[in-house]
Amino acid sequence: MKRSARAIIDTSALRHNLSRCREVAPNSLAMAVIKADAYGHNMLKTAETLSHANGFAVSCITEALELRQARFIHPILVLQGFQTMQGMKAMAEHRLRAVVHDRYQLELLESAPPSIKLDIAIKLDTGMHRLGFPIEQAWTLFERLSKHPNIKPTPWLMTHMACADEPGNSHTQQQIDRFEKYTDGLQAPRSIGNSASILAWPQTHVNWVRPGIMLYGSSPFSHGNARRDGLEAVMTLTAPLISIHTIAKGESIGYGASWTCPDDTRTGVVACGYADGYPRHAPTGTPVWINGKESRILGRVSMDMVVIDLTAIEARIGDPVELWGKHISVDRVAQAAGTISYEILCDVGGLCQHEYV
Ligand SMILES: Cc1ncc(COP(=O)(O)O)c(C=O)c1O
Repeated sequence: MKRSARAIIDTSALRHNLSRCREVAPNSLAMAVIKADAYGHNMLKTAETLSHANGFAVSCITEALELRQARFIHPILVLQGFQTMQGMKAMAEHRLRAVVHDRYQLELLESAPPSIKLDIAIKLDTGMHRLGFPIEQAWTLFERLSKHPNIKPTPWLMTHMACADEPGNSHTQQQIDRFEKYTDGLQAPRSIGNSASILAWPQTHVNWVRPGIMLYGSSPFSHGNARRDGLEAVMTLTAPLISIHTIAKGESIGYGASWTCPDDTRTGVVACGYADGYPRHAPTGTPVWINGKESRILGRVSMDMVVIDLTAIEARIGDPVELWGKHISVDRVAQAAGTISYEILCDVGGLCQHEYV
């Protein structure tokens, strides 16, 4: 038996957003980032919808194997690479491109049987300081790995931007400059840009771009506006009203009695809570959409329910409430809840039914 909250996924919006990426970065191939169950949108269905992408990027081997088992033959980049010999063998067998980012992976490669032939991307750290070899080692690593018998010709060179979501931040230009300086002259495909880089930093439009959040119609920028960037909302989180009543002036609402009615207040209870992926930290005032009007939540979000304001709104039991989607952007909800859209989209996991339209 499914719960009442539904995540409706608009497949044409997904496709539109990939086209938008291609329009902005016309000379790059697009590797759709569909890790973490496609940011909560369902990895296999998203891959099917975006089967015209030039490739997919996932975080780990398990995700990549799921794609291969579902018969996706695309290039697949595994962003965390392999951690064991067994993992490396599986990646070679299934033609997965491994991101090589750490010395222990080099040691595994050196001790692999000659039959292993692996596609790799060398991850270079230009200033993110998460994964990757120091950028100064680009030439020596490339020389060593491109001649390595276990590696298929021409490793890719890649890096990742730390601050591309802040268009004025000089850190990004520094990272780009370092990447260009230290990889200059190396004959290899390159990949730099995530969504924010794609939209704001054309210098990152090299051979491959790696769009993630923009495919799902959310802005990668902290106070961004996805529509202004030509993106369409993909997920609508909706749930029905299951109770309506008027709470008297001076009475409070929900756990912790955190919100007190300033007047007699008509309220509705929506069958969606943090178990469905709605952020518990969304405060009173976080916008919702009901029957053509914007309203707001009142009091604390509970596990399976949230209370909304129905002042001056005609509503009946069963009416659908949009928690985010075409009218209320997921970015607004994320900002209200003090988080980012990535987190709340990823949280719309298994409990909430997903419907593809
Ligand atoms: C290495 C790498 N590339 C690309 C992306 C996609 O980023 P975004 O969702 O901001 O486009 C991610 C996401 O975390 C990533 O880790």
